Amino acid sequence: MIRLEHLSKVFQTGTVNENAAIRDVNLTVKEGDFITIIGSNGSGKTTLFNLITGTYPPTEGNIYIRGKDVSREPEFKRARYIGRIFQDPLLGTASNMSLEDNMMITYRKGFKGLKVSLNGKMRDFFREKLVPLQMGLEDRMKDNVGLLSGGQRQALTLLMMVLSQPALILLDEHTAALDPKNAQIVLDLTTRFVEEYKLTTMMITHNMSQAIRYGTRLLMMDLGEIILDVEGKEKQNLTVEKLVDKFHEIREKTFVSDEALLSQG
Ligand SMILES: Nc1ncnc2c1ncn2[C@@H]1O[C@H](COP(=O)(O)OP(=O)(O)O)[C@@H](O)[C@H]1O
Ligand SMILES: [Mg+2]
Repeated sequence: MIRLEHLSKVFQTGTVNENAAIRDVNLTVKEGDFITIIGSNGSGKTTLFNLITGTYPPTEGNIYIRGKDVSREPEFKRARYIGRIFQDPLLGTASNMSLEDNMMITYRKGFKGLKVSLNGKMRDFFREKLVPLQMGLEDRMKDNVGLLSGGQRQALTLLMMVLSQPALILLDEHTAALDPKNAQIVLDLTTRFVEEYKLTTMMITHNMSQAIRYGTRLLMMDLGEIILDVEGKEKQNLTVEKLVDKFHEIREKTFVSDEALLSQG
């Protein structure tokens, strides 16, 4: 359903700082895949997302989503069917607006032009959706989102994204800025939504054991390339040690300097 063909991104072409952040990446993401992505800092994970969302045009190659070549489609158009969550909880919701207004805006996105308005029925629907988050947000629908904690905001962002029914969900270390307890809550919620709504998902994490434990498929990136792509039994049988070994095998270099990638929390 999503295909990346010979995708490349070079920054600052022709200068001494020329940097090939993505190098000839080929990838087919199947409908319903839940992909975890690991790779050391600067390996190109975020840039890959930026190319998929249209934040930057690719230097070379093409991106197909559900058969359509979207490589040259502007970011705002792709945002209608690609949901993205960042590390920073402030980026997903509008601080100076109420929960219900925030939810209404995203919900409208899913209707592609149909008029729906915030009425009693809609409020009941939102309340019903907020209850399972178990954060008491169903009683705070008129509060400004700016009053919520980081964990509550990420959970709300996640819920809103699900309501907008995107074809693809991109999570860029979306729990990394949260305390361990809230990170776990948001992660659990993520898995629940992905399974319940059969969402096609790509999730970047700096935590290897998380990447192994969650998802149906695992990618490892290094120097702008996908150097490992495993799923099914092979993924289930992975351990952090095996991953490190594989990386050594493939690249013949050590992770020693990269403590973040080795964190097992
Ligand atoms: N807008 C940009 N301009 C120039 N270089 C960039 C830009 N975005 C990313 N890069 C470079 O591309 C490489 C990959 O970065 P990034 O995709 O952010 O890595 P990751 O998310 O895996 O840590 C890095 O060398 C980074 O400095
Ligand atoms: Mg990144």
